[in-house]
Amino acid sequence: MRRTFGKLLPLALAAPFLLAGCGGAGDETSAPPPPAGPATGAPAAGNIAASDAAPKEGSPPRKVVTPETVIDSKGLSKVVKEEEKGGEAAASPSPTDYLWQLAKDELIQDEPLTPKLPRPLPALTLNVYVPAANPLTKGKVELGKQLYFDPRVSLDGTVSCATCHNPEKGWTDGAPVSTGIDGLKGDRSAPTVLNTAYGKTMFWDGRAPSLEAQAQGPVQNPIEMGKQSYKQIIERLRTISGYREQFQKVFGTDVTLDGMAKAIAAFERVTAVSGNSKYDKYTAGDLKALDDSEKRGMVLFGLRASPDDDFKTDAVLKKAMCTSCHVGFNFTDEQFHNLGIGWDPAQKSFKDKGRWAVTPIGARNNAEIGAFKTPTVRDAARTGPYMHDGSLKTLEEVVEHYNKGGNPNPFLDNDLKKPLNLTDQEKKDVVAFMKALTGEEIAVELPKLPAGPDGKTPDPRSALKAPAPKTAFHPSTVR
Ligand code: HEC
Ligand code: HEC
Repeated sequence: MRRTFGKLLPLALAAPFLLAGCGGAGDETSAPPPPAGPATGAPAAGNIAASDAAPKEGSPPRKVVTPETVIDSKGLSKVVKEEEKGGEAAASPSPTDYLWQLAKDELIQDEPLTPKLPRPLPALTLNVYVPAANPLTKGKVELGKQLYFDPRVSLDGTVSCATCHNPEKGWTDGAPVSTGIDGLKGDRSAPTVLNTAYGKTMFWDGRAPSLEAQAQGPVQNPIEMGKQSYKQIIERLRTISGYREQFQKVFGTDVTLDGMAKAIAAFERVTAVSGNSKYDKYTAGDLKALDDSEKRGMVLFGLRASPDDDFKTDAVLKKAMCTSCHVGFNFTDEQFHNLGIGWDPAQKSFKDKGRWAVTPIGARNNAEIGAFKTPTVRDAARTGPYMHDGSLKTLEEVVEHYNKGGNPNPFLDNDLKKPLNLTDQEKKDVVAFMKALTGEEIAVELPKLPAGPDGKTPDPRSALKAPAPKTAFHPSTVR
């Protein structure tokens, strides 16, 4: 636990505003973050209409509301040292061998993979969106899929990543906040995994620098997959011969935490993708892909109609201000903003301080108080309820929140301070446009999991439903 939450834990106990979800191991990284993220590096692919909002290469960066802070990320070697000193696993420190092993190259039998992605998603280029240490290969993605859906990664075999990030539910869980082991509830909403391949940071507060770093967290989180040491998890997986064989072929090692995080990240990059929506078809030249309401919504959102389209509207470009933050091919600036979500007017404070809480002392900026990462709007029709606390149920409520100018508080983002004065029809149009960002359906076939030492193979479907709360005492309920 101490390691899982890193330096945040003592704070989390002292100050109830600091919450963790899906790990918290953001400061344990096994791979460097992708050097460039979509907000700065990538052109707004296919986004012909984004001229007025999309960052252009070479042009000065847009006003940044929250300063970019590099979160102090511990290298895996530091994690190992803590493990050896005791850390959470004082009773069972996880020796280096469980975290990482030197590859025996002669064991590796895998082939490179170039995934076919829906337009306009840019290719998953090595060193741009894929860390150099974790190139995409076929066997790795297949292994990652099994681990993603395998409830044996959790302490009692009831929770998998898909419990909270179910591909059938827009890669989230459809609940305001997510439920983990023993029915324990966290305080944040499970974000979609869709298009996180292009994310510059992970989590609502951006505390993890990569998908690889992110994937190490939930497995050890006491309210997600259980209070267990890495040694326990990896030892359990090493009893499954099918995993040992696959790790050898993919990584040339036995089962390790490093390999597990890499395989899961590779699976997410290749599979959790959203594109080829009605809007993408429109920008690709199918001018009939959007109806009039969706087109008006697009303009209000901040995106120009195609110059080839003779569609006429008196909708004011960017009246709804959305592209101030939801910009580029993945509809996010990858920045952190305060919309007033979670502001408690009686206490005059935020229970969850968001980005501010994970920023090192000495680098904190008031604009980070109550600020959270701009999520993609792609597939928003499938990812409700919305916001970091799941407090807004529908897209209509989301638009209403922006229309009234957010929740007033001392740290509110400048782009929200004025009410938008959208008419009822205009609100409907913006919602219609967001629905036109629903990506093409990509069916994810559940994997067949390797048999355990008892010869039994768990059904990945069993973990798609959140576990019921346990009433009896269970060690993992002690926080
Ligand atoms: C009990 C529910 C639960 C489980 C199990 C769980 N997650 Fe999460 N996940 C969350 C929550 C809640 C967050 C947001 C936490 C935060 O921002 O502090 C999150 C965040 C994430 C993110 C960041 C997305 C973004 O846009 O920033 C990724 C990626 C992710 N989880 C993948 C995984 C993987 C992989 C696993 C399995 C190893 C997993 N999750 C297991 C609930 C869960
Ligand atoms: C100042 C930047 C900013 C502007 C302007 C903005 N957003 Fe957001 N948006 C965010 C941030 C940040 C969040 C997450 C906030 C949180 O959880 O506290 C968010 C969340 C959302 C979500 C929820 C997504 C999810 O998965 O939970 C939707 C939908 C959304 N915005 C749509 C819009 C629309 C439509 C507009 C224009 C009317 C708009 N946004 C304007 C920054 C912005």
